[in-house]
Amino acid sequence: MTDSEGTQDGAEGDRTASDREEGGSGAGRQQLRLAVLRERGPGEDRVALVPEAVGRLAPLGIEVLVERGAGAGALLTDDAFATAGARLVARDEALAQSDGLLVIGPPPDDVLAALRPGQIVVGLLQPLVRPDLARRLAERGLTSLSLDLLPRRLSRAQAMDALSSQANVAGYKAALVAADTFGRYFPMLVTAAGTSKPAQVLVLGAGVAGLQAMGTARRLGAVVTGYDVRPETRAEIESVGARFLELRSVGPAGGEGGYARALTAEEQAAQQEELQAQLPRFDIVITTAQVPGRRPPVLVTAGALAQLGAGSVVVDLAASELGGNVEGSVAATTVLTDAGVRVVGAGNLPALVPAAASTAYASNLVALLRTCVEDGRFALDPEDEVHAGLLVTRDGDVVHAAVRSALDATAVDPTATSNAPSAATEASR
Ligand SMILES: NC(=O)c1ccc[n+]([C@@H]2O[C@H](COP(=O)([O-])OP(=O)(O)OC[C@H]3O[C@@H](n4cnc5c(N)ncnc54)[C@H](O)[C@@H]3O)[C@@H](O)[C@H]2O)c1
Repeated sequence: MTDSEGTQDGAEGDRTASDREEGGSGAGRQQLRLAVLRERGPGEDRVALVPEAVGRLAPLGIEVLVERGAGAGALLTDDAFATAGARLVARDEALAQSDGLLVIGPPPDDVLAALRPGQIVVGLLQPLVRPDLARRLAERGLTSLSLDLLPRRLSRAQAMDALSSQANVAGYKAALVAADTFGRYFPMLVTAAGTSKPAQVLVLGAGVAGLQAMGTARRLGAVVTGYDVRPETRAEIESVGARFLELRSVGPAGGEGGYARALTAEEQAAQQEELQAQLPRFDIVITTAQVPGRRPPVLVTAGALAQLGAGSVVVDLAASELGGNVEGSVAATTVLTDAGVRVVGAGNLPALVPAAASTAYASNLVALLRTCVEDGRFALDPEDEVHAGLLVTRDGDVVHAAVRSALDATAVDPTATSNAPSAATEASR
């Protein structure tokens, strides 16, 4: 069974049969029209496709409609998109004439309202965090795929792994933000005016973002130390030129699928205490710890912050409305503590490297579309683990089991501090 008939018939909307043939010339070749809009989220300078990716979609029978100015935040010009074969259109034309949208973040209300039943939406839709959005996508009759639901451990899914590609950018930028905020040098410098010691950098959490932050800080000349609760990260930390920080109070805490498990309250308290004793010897602390589907664990308490030397910098990559790894950090805000420590709540770091982040994201989309579009037809295979894993809504229903569970549990406050896993979290692992 495929989605091609239902989706494209339903998406007909303003389009005529001849529109769907290449160039409307009657050449007979089926075309799937996918639109890219300018992202409207605060500070969001990324765009879902870059010109180079437009060219890679043409052989699949995909025509790309791009809202004029969609790439401006990443300094990707309309001319560059047109040269690559995209058709530049107004926003309402992109919505009316396309079979679907390629997006970065969840589409805003006005876009949702303008879409027609059967149109496709592909992006980082965060349906487990925002199950209400999944419900609305279903109510609008949209077929939606969310890249943050990708079964990441499948080797063939790696090229589509937008969480990893964006975490990589975030880790890189976190090291640069730390260096930029720090009032001293990262490398050791020997000059006629004296010798500066290299900065001591500690990165907590050694997933994709953490390892990239370590490698980047190392390349800037800092002395870097890394820590994670998963013991297998020791070799990864050392491979990027960092030292592994050993904490005695917390045993191995690897969980399912290569992720960390949540620590018990006792383990967390012991970890915080031991870290507090270690932190004062570092100039820079970058925190990247996450446990899927839960609030980020607090690693740096207010007490630990107070122990850091004046001029130290803490970058909390996990800072969001759900909390962060650093007590008191605020997303997208830099706080100067009474002790003279700058605490940077990272916010949307990939958007601060918009061209690189968009290029990587567009590659992830191309890799996915290659598996589900052929000769201008969109065809999902429910037997395909990747397709089944990504599909959130179809034919008016929320079809993803974990998202459905999250919807059923909407009475549960996602900001609750409980360590008990939600049904949604368990089902998505
Ligand atoms: N294709 C693949 O095989 C594939 C794809 C993506 C990620 N991965 C792997 O999956 C793992 C998770 O990657 P991620 O970047 O998505 O991780 P993530 O964003 O979920 O978490 C970041 C890191 O925080 C660590 N962490 C959690 N709680 C902690 C605590 N209390 N103290 C210290 N550290 C803590 C985790 O162990 C993890 O390394 C990594 O090993 C990554 O390499 C594999």
